[in-house]
This record gives sequence, C-alpha cells and structure tokens, in this order.
Amino acid sequence: MKAIVITQPGGPEVLQLQEYPTPTPGAEEVLIEIKAAGLNRADVSQRRGKYPAPPGVVQDILGMEVAGIVIECGPGVTMWKPGDKVCALIAGGGYATHVTAKEGQCLPVPEKLSFAEAASLPEVIATVWTNVFQRAHLQAGENLLVHGGSSGIGIAAIQLGHAFDANVYVTVGSEEKGKACLELGAAGYVNYKEQDFMQAYAGTGMDVILDMVGGDYLDKNVQLLNTEGRLVYINAMGGNMAQLNISRMMQKRLTITGTTLRPRDYTFRKALSQELLEKVWPLIHNGKYKPVIYATFTYDKAPEAHALMESSQHIGKIILVNE
Ligand SMILES: NC(=O)c1ccc[n+]([C@@H]2O[C@H](COP(=O)([O-])OP(=O)(O)OC[C@H]3O[C@@H](n4cnc5c(N)ncnc54)[C@H](OP(=O)(O)O)[C@@H]3O)[C@@H](O)[C@H]2O)c1
Repeated sequence: MKAIVITQPGGPEVLQLQEYPTPTPGAEEVLIEIKAAGLNRADVSQRRGKYPAPPGVVQDILGMEVAGIVIECGPGVTMWKPGDKVCALIAGGGYATHVTAKEGQCLPVPEKLSFAEAASLPEVIATVWTNVFQRAHLQAGENLLVHGGSSGIGIAAIQLGHAFDANVYVTVGSEEKGKACLELGAAGYVNYKEQDFMQAYAGTGMDVILDMVGGDYLDKNVQLLNTEGRLVYINAMGGNMAQLNISRMMQKRLTITGTTLRPRDYTFRKALSQELLEKVWPLIHNGKYKPVIYATFTYDKAPEAHALMESSQHIGKIILVNE
C-alpha cells in the first residue's frame, strides 16, 4: 500500500507519500481500501512529535478517521462483508491507501454522501456526542457555548446541539467564521478577537460549555455558567494551567469534566458507534446534519493540507482524498 509517513518530527514537509506494508486484518477486523481520510488537530501535534499514538497503534502514519470500501474480513467478522462502504473511527494509520479497523468501530457511509463527506464525520461526531451529550447531558432548551465554533469539532457541536433543540452560541476568530456558524444553526457568535466573550454573553447564561482553549477561559466559563452548569474540556490549546474560583463553582454546583477519545478501548468505541448509528445517523439521512468540508487535497498534497490546518483559516473539515 501507500502511506503518508511522518519521516521525522517536524513541520508539514516531513509528511511523505511512501510504500508501506499493507496490514492484515486480525480477529474482528476488516481491511478497508481508503478513499478519503479526515484531518484532525491532534494530527498536527503528533506530526510535531508531541502527541504519540497510543501503544499498539502505528506511530508513523497519522489519521484517526477514514471512509472507504471493505475488501477483506478477518476471523469472526459478522457486521460487514467485502464491498461494504464504511467510515471508521480509528486510533491511527488513516493517511494511507489501506487500514484495518475493528468491525464495531465502522459505520455505514450514509446514502448520498461522498467518501470525502463520510470521512469528515467519525471523529468530530464521536467527540461531540460523548462529551456534550453523554457526559454533559445537554437537554432541549438549554444554552450551549462552543469555543472554536468554526473548527471541525465546532461545526459538529453546532449542528448536533441545534438538532436536539438546544440554543448554541459560539466564539470564533473572525466575522466570516461567525457568519458560517449562524448558517449552521448557531443562535449567536462572538468574535473573541474583537470582544470579550464573557462580557458579550453575560446576559445569556450557559448550561453547557464545550472548551478546547483552556487557560484563562476557565474563570470566564465558570462565571458564564448557570447553576448546575457543566463545563467539558476536550483540549487546552491556550494553556493547561488555570485558576479556579472554588467558591463560585460550589455555589453554582458546577460539574467540570473532560475526556480524550483516542485512548478509549474497543468496548467503549463499539458502544459509542452503535449509539451514533441510532441517534445521529438518522439526522444525516434526513439532512439535519450536513458535512462541512472546507478543502480536499490529494495524498501527495498532505503537507499543504497540514499547513492549511495550522493557519486556522478553515471553517469545518479538511480531507485527504485517495485518487
Ligand atoms: N479530547 C478529544 O477527544 C478530542 C477529539 C477531537 C478533537 N479534540 C480537540 O478539539 C479541538 C478542535 O479540533 P479540530 O480538529 O476540530 O481542530 P480545527 O478544525 O483545527 O480547529 C481548531 C480551531 O480552534 C481555534 N483556536 C482557538 N484557540 C486556539 C489556539 N490557542 N490555538 C489554535 N487554535 C485555536 C481556531 O479557530 P479561531 O481562528 O476561530 O480561533 C482553530 O481554527 C482541538 O483542540 C482538538 O485537539 C479533542
């Protein structure tokens, strides 16, 4: 097979398309001929050598979500057969022409969606579902604040929150990004480069906040949360350390939590995929949730795709297509 290999830790240029041994599907695994693979922010950290893949996962090939065709089934596979079109949430190895995945981590490519669109779904939908819905228990009628509203994660959080009748507010780094979020169903946006989001949303009050920024957003988030509010972290791009006003947290009876999806075991991932199939896939079928692809790149242009992600110009997902 061919794979986009991290030849050494560094900038986008270290990604090179090379020959690589094709994996063999083990028990309960399928071999997927990949047609498209999604980029995620964590790929940038891994490429730089700062975020290794979990033990047992290929280290020098990025890629946590793919879409393609099942071409071989390992022993014990019952859910899929060769020829099935699937998208899959994997822990690594997706920037390649082939990858193996446990059968329970695959989902059907929704009808009418291209492989590129299907590859844009697994990581962001799984992350938003497990954090905003399973962990923070977002309810209809509640207010959800999403930092990084135009990110891959943001466009999923806006659409899922909106589809389940929550009021979704976002922070973004430009007016163009804010307008795109409104079109996806956001009830409002704050351009944090122009306005302090805490002051702007002071009269709104948030029930759930999804934060990937961390740092000094913590105190502002705590001030914005309503009584019984839930703050859920999925990253801390602006810094890991922050000061918490413990009294305020206690008085409001807040829940502060967070997760990382990548190291979760197969039992969790399989159950999550099943829940996504039941709760989210119908929204994709009826058009309430639409993939948002900002740009696609062929495999030989992977360095350009990474440079775009690092520029943060994009709105939604960046996808590699295997042509
Ligand atoms: N915990 C998990 O399991 C999990 C899973 C998936 C993703 N994540 C995290 O979720 C975040 C979004 O992922 P993604 O793939 O959707 O990323 P993405 O599309 O690259 O979006 C990231 C956006 O965050 C905004 N941002 C705000 N503060 C930033 C900062 N200090 N540095 C860089 N960007 C900043 C930027 O938009 P503006 O220009 O508008 O500020 C940027 O476009 C990432 O931090 C990722 O690591 C976590």
